[in-house]
Amino acid sequence: MTLRAAVRLSSAALTFALAMGALVDATPRSVDSHAAPSPSGEAIYLKGVLWSGELLLASRADTEPLTGEQAACVSCHRQSGLGGTEARNVIPPITGQFLFDPRAARLDEVQLPYIPGARPDRTPYTEATLARAIREGVSSEGRDLSYLMPRYALSDADMAALINHLRTLDHRHVPGVSSMELHFATIIAPDADPVARRGMLAVLQQFFEDRNIAPRGLPALNMAPSGNTAYAKGMFKVNRRWVLHVWEPTGPPETWTEQLEKDFAAQPVFAVISGLAGRNWAPVSTFCERRAVPCLFPNVAQPPADADHNFHTLYFSRGVLLEADLIGAGLLDTSAGKVTKRVRQVYRAGDVGETGAHALTAVLSAKGVIVASRAIPHGAPPSALAEALRDVSSTDALVLWLRQPDLTALKDRSAPPIPLDAIRAGTGREKWLLGQRLDSPMRGGGHSWGPTNRFLGFKRV
Ligand code: HEC
Repeated sequence: MTLRAAVRLSSAALTFALAMGALVDATPRSVDSHAAPSPSGEAIYLKGVLWSGELLLASRADTEPLTGEQAACVSCHRQSGLGGTEARNVIPPITGQFLFDPRAARLDEVQLPYIPGARPDRTPYTEATLARAIREGVSSEGRDLSYLMPRYALSDADMAALINHLRTLDHRHVPGVSSMELHFATIIAPDADPVARRGMLAVLQQFFEDRNIAPRGLPALNMAPSGNTAYAKGMFKVNRRWVLHVWEPTGPPETWTEQLEKDFAAQPVFAVISGLAGRNWAPVSTFCERRAVPCLFPNVAQPPADADHNFHTLYFSRGVLLEADLIGAGLLDTSAGKVTKRVRQVYRAGDVGETGAHALTAVLSAKGVIVASRAIPHGAPPSALAEALRDVSSTDALVLWLRQPDLTALKDRSAPPIPLDAIRAGTGREKWLLGQRLDSPMRGGGHSWGPTNRFLGFKRV
């Protein structure tokens, strides 16, 4: 998902779309879903689907046409409509504000925000010249647009809907921004680890305090136009106080989205930053998608299943799924001369490690490694781990998808010793993969390696 986000952000999609051109079937095909009851400019813009249900067709001189998603405006002009740059190619912003806003009498009075690639000095579009640009590739000033901008033979109804959508892309009222303050929220799930909660809040609050103590500019109301560019009025320095709100939904996860909607209605925020999940983050990501609020880098060990289709949440990683892939690669790596034949893994039923364990089983079974998994029942005391490890043999690789209280129980003298003679230090690769060295809770003086977030353990023995 990070990759997808990066692609959108850098507009590398342009290269992608061009590269894909040769591979794409040029014939328009019907999509299965029935056509929408009225033309949807958003469907054309984001998915490349027309009112009729046919796929959008983008033709370009001298190359194969693009269809459907590849032809969709979003792949170049981005979800926001603000465009971007790709190598030396500029993809201009095409929100209504940038296309239609009348030119200011003097260049230094242009009211548009500064966007690289914007052309505030060109003749504003009318609906007719805009339709011509999209159909025939001719700008408002009669210039031929570059071959990178495809031509689209849209019906009048589809064209009207698309132009309407470009108008809705204007965001002149950004939530959570006042002349003096910039509001952020962080969201903490009720089953999040309380120690991690304290740690995360302490860091965030300190950061906000530091930032507010050391103002880096003039107060918001004193704008300081640079005076030198076409955007003089639009470029100004402001210094807003940052305000952090802590939103902590309670009760069953099905009710969180509504609770967050209420929090947002009471205090709109510009972005949701960091945050802490327990087992379930899906209701939070649903909220972020619905409100179109950027939700940046929550601490989530298991991103929701549809995370790849989320636009507004950016995750650090695929969480336990990434760990499963990396642990799998580490165990299958024979370069250190050790071949893994059997893997034992232990997880808590219903916790995120369960998903990781299933994913690792899939990776290893596909390569013929025997995997035996044991679940410690939800709510069983940490001493249940000893039972789960009862018959581990010294030739097994052992993977523990467990949180700290269970791992600590391994140190407990009353637990039966684990019958492992050879405890091997992690190989170079594992150090890189899993980051952080933990004191080995096992006998034998070796080292084990835990992931950097510390609550899931991986031991190679
Ligand atoms: C493959 C990439 C790509 C796709 C897909 C694409 N565009 Fe463009 N578009 C461009 C580029 C590049 C330009 C700049 C062309 C130039 O200035 O010569 C452009 C320019 C434009 C302009 C002219 C803006 C101005 O300021 O004069 C409009 C309007 C426009 N695009 C609308 C759309 C719409 C609507 C769609 C979807 C139906 C779309 N584009 C799809 C790449 C793309």
